[in-house]
Amino acid sequence: MKRVILDTDTGVDDALAILLAMRSPELSVEAVAGVAGNAPLNHVMSNIRRVLGLLARAEYPALARGEPEPLLRPLQAAPEMHGPDGLGGVTQLHRADGSPRYPEPALPVGPQPAAELFLDLVTAYPDEITLIAVGPLTNAARAVLKDRQRMRRLKEIIVMGGAFRRYSNARVHAEFNIHVDPMAAQIVFNLGVPMTLIPLDATEQVILSRSMVEEVMREGENPLLEFARDATAYYMQAHLVQDGFEGAYMHDPLAVGVAVRPEFVQTVESVVSVETRGYHTCGMAVADLRPEGRWRRPGHIKVATGADAESFLSFFLERLKGAS
Ligand code: RIB
Ligand code: CA
Repeated sequence: MKRVILDTDTGVDDALAILLAMRSPELSVEAVAGVAGNAPLNHVMSNIRRVLGLLARAEYPALARGEPEPLLRPLQAAPEMHGPDGLGGVTQLHRADGSPRYPEPALPVGPQPAAELFLDLVTAYPDEITLIAVGPLTNAARAVLKDRQRMRRLKEIIVMGGAFRRYSNARVHAEFNIHVDPMAAQIVFNLGVPMTLIPLDATEQVILSRSMVEEVMREGENPLLEFARDATAYYMQAHLVQDGFEGAYMHDPLAVGVAVRPEFVQTVESVVSVETRGYHTCGMAVADLRPEGRWRRPGHIKVATGADAESFLSFFLERLKGAS
């Protein structure tokens, strides 16, 4: 059993990542935190609760509000991709009787800010906790700034972020999670804890299509698959507009998948730097990943260069369907 903390800017793919983590018996989800990113923090926290509300559980992970703004710049959210509510508009869906289709349950949100909860969990479980960060790294950076030595007792960090040998999504050369808070990423990348970075190079190989979801639903509907279908509708249309195909990049679910099966991705170990000042490149993650690259600098970060998309998508759908 791997103890994990999910640090999310729940958004549509974050929501699928949370469901995958909660459906994976290999993982003990100790906490789910929210950070401003895809949507403002209030939406993110509401979305986390709506997603967890889909699961009939005896007990739920601790919930923590994180940072409402990046460390040094104003928030640049992504409503064009995730919808104004950050959840593909499903918060506005209603049943025939007028009740909300995806209500927000009154799951308690702890009094501690996310950074403090991270530090307390690392103290409680030294060298056992995997932090899976699939949003801007503001919460993790805040925890490092508060107590770097304690954060170094994390077992590992898995981050969805960056883009190396392809153009990117927030800017030409800046991936969204890093671009929203470049300084936070720099702080976390320099922490020195074993880290796996899952960039667009890997995640953009993994595309969920509507037909995949509907095919599995024909085998038996369940609330998680219905949510996946409903929440990805807006997100898939956004991909059609932005990327020219109707499907959903599975950025964040792949990061959770790697926590369960690292073999879902191929990696290269490297130092990774972050551009924190460039006019055109602020938020760019920088590393030479070529085996014989001139600027190659082997380091402590395993950077995913490719993904086994077919195996992962099958794994993801089976887990949501209910088979472990
Ligand atoms: O670039 C993709 C990442 O940015 C994903 O984590 C998505 O949810 C957004 O946060
Ligand atoms: Ca995210």
